[in-house]
Amino acid sequence: MKNLFDVSGKTILVTGASRGIGKVFAEGFRDSGAIVYGTGSKQESIEWMNDSGIQGRVADITKPGSMTPIIDEIRSKHGRLDCLINNAGYATNKPASAFKEDEIYKIIDTNFAGVFRACQAYYKAQKKDGGNIINIASVLGLRGYSLSSVYCGTKGAVIQLTKALAAEWIGAGFKVNAICPGFIDTDMTIMLKEKPQILEQLNSSIPLKRMGKPEELLGTAIFLASDASSYIMGQSIVVDGGLIEIMR
Ligand SMILES: NC(=O)c1ccc[n+]([C@@H]2O[C@H](COP(=O)([O-])OP(=O)(O)OC[C@H]3O[C@@H](n4cnc5c(N)ncnc54)[C@H](OP(=O)(O)O)[C@@H]3O)[C@@H](O)[C@H]2O)c1
Repeated sequence: MKNLFDVSGKTILVTGASRGIGKVFAEGFRDSGAIVYGTGSKQESIEWMNDSGIQGRVADITKPGSMTPIIDEIRSKHGRLDCLINNAGYATNKPASAFKEDEIYKIIDTNFAGVFRACQAYYKAQKKDGGNIINIASVLGLRGYSLSSVYCGTKGAVIQLTKALAAEWIGAGFKVNAICPGFIDTDMTIMLKEKPQILEQLNSSIPLKRMGKPEELLGTAIFLASDASSYIMGQSIVVDGGLIEIMR
């Protein structure tokens, strides 16, 4: 019987593959036999990809047009880009009253406008061939969290964007879904780990009593990238150690 979760030979582009969740995705898809391209915001970020079997490319997603040459290159070399994973993201931890104008727009540009533009560039390139988009949203797009106001807003927007694009592009053969991770142990959560009291409070509020590891999101990404999820459209799958489902 065919392996429904087979992603071997598929072309996958992961944004923000330099570290954290995106790095684990890039390596995990490579190990599953996919042809993987990964981006970082600058050259130093992607240097580790040399000789790793992952094709590293620089693209600052806050810059309009940054993703188009990479998508075009993949299509010209491999015929199509099977799946775009919009993973690059940015977060700060500060009171809503302290945000300066440039900080507000940095988060919006990275987490929302950048994701939108990448989806748009992918659709324009693939509109005759169909495609598959996985947006990395967050449980903070579903519930509020202190000191994360703008971030929460952008992740809620990504969840809605996912539904809207799924509705708009389904007729062109596109599948668009999102993953909502809970608290995952990466550079992004260092600011929480540095404060033992906050970390303890956080862990005790997670039914599984610990942060997740980036590897614990990989199976969901492979599922969404594979034919096993062919009837799943516009969904946001929560992977959070029970935070949302149990603590509702
Ligand atoms: N960690 C969590 O608890 C958690 C929970 C829910 C959702 N998420 C989401 O999961 C995704 C990955 O998070 P993470 O924890 O792995 O974060 P991370 O370790 O901080 O890594 C962030 C990644 O995004 C890239 N990036 C940031 N700004 C960029 C830009 N302007 N252009 C291109 N790339 C950019 C970074 O590239 P450089 O190395 O070049 O800077 C890096 O690869 C994010 O969307 C995040 O919001 C994370």
